[in-house]
Amino acid sequence: MGAQQVREGFAALYGAAPEGVWSAPGRVNLIGEHTDYNDGFVMPFALPHTAVAALSRRTDGVLRLHSADVEGGVVELRLDDLAPETDRNWTAYPAGVVWALREAGHAVTGADVHLASTVPSGAGLSSSAALEVVIALALNDLFELGLQRWQLARLCQRAENVYVGAPTGIMDQTASACCEEGHALFLDTRDLSQRQIPFDLAAEGMRLLVVDTQVKHAHSEGEYGKRRAGCERGAALLGVDALRDVPYAELDDALARLGDDEEAVRLVRHVVTEDERVEKVVALLESGDTRAIGPVLVAGHASLRDDFRISCPELDLAVDTALAAGALGARMTGGGFGGSAIVLAEAADVETITKAVEEAFATAQFTAPRVFEAVPAAGARRLS
Ligand code: GLA
Repeated sequence: MGAQQVREGFAALYGAAPEGVWSAPGRVNLIGEHTDYNDGFVMPFALPHTAVAALSRRTDGVLRLHSADVEGGVVELRLDDLAPETDRNWTAYPAGVVWALREAGHAVTGADVHLASTVPSGAGLSSSAALEVVIALALNDLFELGLQRWQLARLCQRAENVYVGAPTGIMDQTASACCEEGHALFLDTRDLSQRQIPFDLAAEGMRLLVVDTQVKHAHSEGEYGKRRAGCERGAALLGVDALRDVPYAELDDALARLGDDEEAVRLVRHVVTEDERVEKVVALLESGDTRAIGPVLVAGHASLRDDFRISCPELDLAVDTALAAGALGARMTGGGFGGSAIVLAEAADVETITKAVEEAFATAQFTAPRVFEAVPAAGARRLS
């Protein structure tokens, strides 16, 4: 939905034009999965799919929220009543951001909000981070809070961890806030230092496809949290602050020290090798050897499937079929247990691969996947 439509929707609801309109994108992650809560490396890029929000300030401690994507009217909340884990609806994301800003001492006195999003929800493409970041950026502008993008991302993560109650890392919010068009974001999640890596596949005759398996995932429910706790246990057993601190060169030694603790071995091996894969992909892209990232993506999928154990039959089928049909690389992306896979392919092979994946899903009697091409888009910004 465009800025104009959201602006008009706002005016129809609240009886006046909004003070402004902002957008924030969803993301796919090229490589670096389940590394962000281990202080490791990630490499997402922004999708053209965005959450768009029109906002005006209020001074009476009231937050009014409306979404064009959800049935129902305007939800009215009192800022003083906002409290963690009291809201199980979509409103928890924008309200959580307001809560996190106020908790950090920022003077936000209320707002009217109308939202619309084209980021598919439950597809592992960060629809919730897009919602959080668009609100954070808008409030930062309107209330002149002077916060930098990485600070907004941190506050959005806090909204998600504490207010919504989902124990996610910092990747999605930073991607939505900081990505740049035509680039992937090489992010060190320990200190949020970042480098924009040019990622223009079309110029090299390649494409990146997203295969949304339509299998919905839900992070707050269990498995994500278990993996995170397992990684923290692994770090404690190895005597490091975070698994990021286990050098790849010392992995064998670290695994030997974990002995027959099979779960810790698997989780540690995934995280340490995944950090190494991110660095490898960055080096390959920077040296112009883009096609060579394919096998690294494939190795990443195997590690998530076999060691981290967060894939599912639909994701594996999408990856295996795409590779058999000639893809250069493919892997699941995002939190896992459903959601989306990415496929790196020669432009000339896109049609064959798409058809093969669709047919394989039909044969397996899975819900038809949604396949689309992803080109690195802009991060969050003010539209008007
Ligand atoms: C979800 C979380 C992120 C990250 C990924 C896995 O998207 O929100 O913080 O942990 O899963 O890489």
